[in-house]
Amino acid sequence: MNSLEYSPIACQSLQVTVVGAGNVGRTLAQRLVQKNVANVVLLDIVPGLPQGIALDLMSAQSVEEYDNKIVGTNEYEATAGSDVVVITAGLPRKPGMSRDDLLGKNANIVAQAAREALRYSPTAILIVVTNPLDVMTYLAWKVTGLPPQRVIGMAGVLDSARLKAFIAMKLGACPSDINTLVLGGHGDLMLPLPRYCTVSGVPITELMPSQTIAELVERTRNGGAEIAALLQTGTAYYAPASSAGVMVESILRNQSRILPAATYLDGMYGLKDIFLGVPCRLGCRGVEDILEVQLTPEEKDALHLSAEAVRRNIDVALAMVKDS
Ligand code: LAC
Repeated sequence: MNSLEYSPIACQSLQVTVVGAGNVGRTLAQRLVQKNVANVVLLDIVPGLPQGIALDLMSAQSVEEYDNKIVGTNEYEATAGSDVVVITAGLPRKPGMSRDDLLGKNANIVAQAAREALRYSPTAILIVVTNPLDVMTYLAWKVTGLPPQRVIGMAGVLDSARLKAFIAMKLGACPSDINTLVLGGHGDLMLPLPRYCTVSGVPITELMPSQTIAELVERTRNGGAEIAALLQTGTAYYAPASSAGVMVESILRNQSRILPAATYLDGMYGLKDIFLGVPCRLGCRGVEDILEVQLTPEEKDALHLSAEAVRRNIDVALAMVKDS
C-alpha cells in the first residue's frame, strides 16, 4: 500500500461557507482563515468577485502565517459539506434608510441562499447576518425547515460590543473588562440592559450617572445608523464581521460561550414563534441553551414591543417570498 493512502488521524478540516462577498462577508472570511477557525468557501453571484478576494487572501497566507484555505465561487455546489453557513448576502442600508426598509429586497435573497446552501450542506448550522436581522433569521428557518437550534441570527454580539465600546470610551476603561447585555430585535427598539452591564464585575449604574447611561443606551440603538451616516456609501462591517466570527468559533470549537443572538423563542420571555435576541449558549449543536434573565415589568414590556415590530415584518416577508 502506498504510505500516503493511510492516515492515522482524520484529515477532514472544518469548513464554513460565507454567502455574500460584500464588506461583511469578505471581512468575516478573512477573520476565519487568519484565526485558523476553519477553511472558507466564499460565495457571491458576481462573477470573479469571490474568486478575486479568495486569491488575494490566499496570497496573504504566508505573510500572515495562517494555514486555513479560502476558495471563491459562484456555485453552491462548491460549498458542499460545510459545517457552518453564514448568510451575509443582501443589500446594505443606505443613509437615512431603516433596517426594515430592506425587508422586501432581502427576503428573496436570503430565502434562496438558505435553501441552496442547505441543499449542499444538509447538516450545517446556519447563521444569518442580513438585515432586517430577526425577520431574515425567521425566514431562513422557515424556508429550510431546519430544527430551530440550528438557525441563529447575529446581532446581539454586535449591539453588546457597541455598548461596550461606548462605555469604555466614556470611562477610559479597557473594553475587555466590560460585560454588557442587549436583548430584543436588531432595530431601533433593541433593549440594552444597563443593570446587567459591568466593568470588572462592578455595575455601570455605580460608575456613571443615569443620564450618561441613557445617552450610551441611545447611542447603542443608533450605532449602525451613526456609522452609516459617517461612511455615506455603506454600513459597518468590521464589528459585524467580528461578531459573526466569534459565533462561528464558539460553534466549531464547541466553546459553549453565552452570547446574545437571535434565537427561536417558544414560550421563554413570554414570547412564541419568533426569533429575537436573547443570551444563548452556542456550541457544536448550535443553540444549546437559552438563558432567561429576570426582567422588570417595564423591561418585559419593552422587549415585547421590540418583538411586535419584528413580528409585523415576519408576516410581510413570508408573503413576499411566497409571491416570488
Ligand atoms: C449595523 C447594521 C448593519 O448595525 O445593521 O451596523
